[in-house]
Amino acid sequence: MLVAIDGPAGAGKSTVARALAQRLGYTYLDSGAMYRCVALLSLDAPNDRPAALAQKARIELGERILLDGRDVSEAIRAPEVSEAASRVAADAGVRAALVASQRALIAAGDWVAEGRDIGTVVAPEAELKVFLTASPEQRARRRAAELGADPQTVLAEQALRDERDTTREHSPLAAAPGAVLLDTSGLTVAEAVERIAALARAASSTA
Ligand code: CDP
Repeated sequence: MLVAIDGPAGAGKSTVARALAQRLGYTYLDSGAMYRCVALLSLDAPNDRPAALAQKARIELGERILLDGRDVSEAIRAPEVSEAASRVAADAGVRAALVASQRALIAAGDWVAEGRDIGTVVAPEAELKVFLTASPEQRARRRAAELGADPQTVLAEQALRDERDTTREHSPLAAAPGAVLLDTSGLTVAEAVERIAALARAASSTA
């Protein structure tokens, strides 16, 4: 069973997907962390091709994120890495390398996978696809609170990233056909998790 959760920055994907995976006893896949790892490598080696960096990178996902054996769990969340992630994510070679790794991971077992293109590209066959949204202001407020940053600055950075993610040529962010749209603006995390868990139960009983 695979639950695919896509949506823009700050819609609550990571928090909701992690809690949902725990609730269902599934494994959580944070595909954005993989793009962030490639971004970190690319910031350190600006003259190397991002696709070559993506092919070579050893990324281990779990409680902590390990990149070539180094714990980068905090480093990949820095705002400059978010910005660089949305730039390297527009590269077709980077996407091909990371999508291949993601497909290999989800081939066995039960997963909640989260990102921008899980339902559209990585796993269009997912039994349940959810597109999480929230208003830009609400998304920026959440992210600013997480980072301890100024909401107006986060809103501006988020608008740039949203624009890049939705207009890029390769795998632009969009709701997959058949995805359930869930606006988390007025919902608590527990409520969002509850709704998706109910959808997952329904999907697995008809699968
Ligand atoms: O947590 P947040 O939603 O801010 O970002 P993320 O999910 O960690 O993803 C960081 C960046 O990676 C996004 O802005 C996208 O450009 C890219 N990404 C992607 O293109 N495809 C994915 N499946 C996941 C992330």
